[in-house]
Amino acid sequence: MRKKTVRDIEVRGKRVLVRVDFNVPQDKAGMIADDTRIRESLPTVRYLKENDARVILCSHLGRPDGKVVEKLRMAPVAARLSELLGSPVLVAQDCVGPEVLRMVSMMNGGDVLMLENLRFHVEEEENGARFAQDLARLADVYVNDAFGTAHRAHASTVGVTHYLPAVAGFLMQKELEAMGRALEKPARPFAAVVGGAKVKDKLGLLENIVAKVDSLLIGGGMVTAFLKARDEAPGKAGASDETTASVRRVMDRARERGVNLVLPVDVVAAASAESPGTAREVLVDGVPEGWSIVDIGSKTVERFTTELARCRTVVWNGPMGIFEVPGFARGTRAVANAIAGLNATTIIGGGSTAEVVGELKLTEKMTHVSTGGGASLMFLEGRELPGIAVLLDKE
Ligand code: 3PG
Repeated sequence: MRKKTVRDIEVRGKRVLVRVDFNVPQDKAGMIADDTRIRESLPTVRYLKENDARVILCSHLGRPDGKVVEKLRMAPVAARLSELLGSPVLVAQDCVGPEVLRMVSMMNGGDVLMLENLRFHVEEEENGARFAQDLARLADVYVNDAFGTAHRAHASTVGVTHYLPAVAGFLMQKELEAMGRALEKPARPFAAVVGGAKVKDKLGLLENIVAKVDSLLIGGGMVTAFLKARDEAPGKAGASDETTASVRRVMDRARERGVNLVLPVDVVAAASAESPGTAREVLVDGVPEGWSIVDIGSKTVERFTTELARCRTVVWNGPMGIFEVPGFARGTRAVANAIAGLNATTIIGGGSTAEVVGELKLTEKMTHVSTGGGASLMFLEGRELPGIAVLLDKE
């Protein structure tokens, strides 16, 4: 990896500010619903502890918008971390200020302190210089292990690096290496499976990935945009909006490069997402007027499975339908199982795709499941993430 990591700097006896992404899902009672992001931070935290660093962890949780929100305090997260580490984790009532400085000054090598939710301060998301300086004042060096937040240019991901030497943690390294290798040096054939409701959210990803893959498989509600772009002659009056034009560009690029573009042949359509009782499987050109595509159909699942079976690298981002509704989840589940069964490098984008894989208990069967939703999308778009750009380069 091009960036320096925690192994490339001296941490012994140092105060190390570690940006983690402990923005974990909570259930209605405020309990942690999925602790993956906490578990994934353990290698960095353990390494720092073992090397006698004073470990100062900072994260956001939810979107409190600059106000203190009781149910978004970090204490329950610190408690779970403590359980996983098997050692105490101190908890601060704020993330900056004299009391936090005092707590840090009392720490010994190997101690771990969890700061309060960064987003209780409005300056965090504004990347305020004074706030970044206050964070930097707590430490001698800075480690960013929050891949999931690396697409945000905030005080704790970008601002603070102006005042402290800044390197990557092990989770950050793992994410960048796994996804970087798949995109830059894939074993071929290389396929991308792209789904999701809105094609607009995935255009950047499609435009980047179509230049790299051998096969591009499309599912989810965004199929509609592909069908529209395929069926319309360019320039047809009133038909071509900006999105259709972009989708057509992706299709043209696929054709030029000889990419096997696999669109659904059949889908599950429903009168609306709220009426699963109306769902039926139809050919793609048989979706009743005004109905929505809520899943891919069984013939499409077969086509996708056959295509994926010959691939040696697969990147998957976006569900094949509205998988949260049990009646609309078959296609997404089938694709997840097909990818999990491959003898290939399999990279799963974060967010809802990782959620599906987690629910189906397939995480261990994949080469890499990203902890970043928006961040993995931006990475797959081929864009530089602000929180990564600012980390020190290796000499
Ligand atoms: C995420 O869950 O994607 C990250 O923690 C970033 O959170 P945000 O979208 O609220 O910035």
